[in-house]
Amino acid sequence: MFPVHRPRRIRQNPQLRAMVREHRLTRAALVQPLFAVPGRGVRREISSLAGQHHLSVDLLVEEARAIADAGIPAVLLFGIPESKDEQGSGAWDAQGIVQQATRALKREVPQLQVIADLCLCEYTSHGHCGIVTRRGDTAQVDNDATLALLARTAASQAEAGADVIAPSDMMDGRVAAIRRALDAAGHPELPILSYAAKFASAFYGPFRDAAGSAPAFGDRAGYQMDPANAREALREMELDYEEGADLLMVKPALPYLDILRAARERFEVPLAAYQVSGEYAQLIAAARAGWLDLERAMLETLTAIRRAGADVIITYFARPAAKLLP
Ligand code: PBG
Repeated sequence: MFPVHRPRRIRQNPQLRAMVREHRLTRAALVQPLFAVPGRGVRREISSLAGQHHLSVDLLVEEARAIADAGIPAVLLFGIPESKDEQGSGAWDAQGIVQQATRALKREVPQLQVIADLCLCEYTSHGHCGIVTRRGDTAQVDNDATLALLARTAASQAEAGADVIAPSDMMDGRVAAIRRALDAAGHPELPILSYAAKFASAFYGPFRDAAGSAPAFGDRAGYQMDPANAREALREMELDYEEGADLLMVKPALPYLDILRAARERFEVPLAAYQVSGEYAQLIAAARAGWLDLERAMLETLTAIRRAGADVIITYFARPAAKLLP
């Protein structure tokens, strides 16, 4: 149809381009992950995640204040405990690292929403996301035995003041178990953000370094999803929705934009996407080598995640992105 149709007519200047822009990022959609560690005065850069730190509770609070001042509404809280055991009992300890951090955050920076990541892998000595039972030479994560521990952890996180509970373990039936536990503990108002479609991804590599949660044997393919499966991802999301999840997450983000798009068309609840540690680390590494412009690449990936259908974006770029966004 050229020369009647000339798409370039509306790209001639920044004003026109902004006027016809289809998707916009805002700070209101961003969530910053934080890693709490024991001690005082600890602020240690995580070598695999440049710009991210292990923070003791006192300095975590300072960081959180800066995050809130930057217009970011929420943090996703992870904890690295002093010691680990077979069951991961540090996860539901009232004096556990996440519980301490949550109490301090809600006391000192009350408007900042605390999303508590709920999983046992940071707390178990074997690094798996649940109770491990051995049958002969093979080890299995026992789904149903794990549910009780997840439920207990959720109640403990709620008691400490978490605003949202975010299970990332991929056990079957955990959303229902957590919902029941929260309701029974007097927290029927507390939302669940479910890591509903969480894939067994190589892109978690830097996080496992950060959280010290690499499995001591085997891998997570028995509970996290096969990267090849899209229909199954939607099924997982549907089950979590039916069990009472208030928001559904796809993780990682960029390699799974098709899942995000399909979910957007199918579900009416808000969707979250997690731009994970490996997605972050690869951009940082390429930028350090001088191979790409970090600011542009960051905004391009975040825009792509939004365009695919995410309402909420969990990203280690929350701070630098917030500086550039309305
Ligand atoms: C815990 C959990 C993981 C991540 C978030 N929660 C690690 C894993 O499943 O191995 C990954 C986050 C990231 O890579 O940034 N289950």
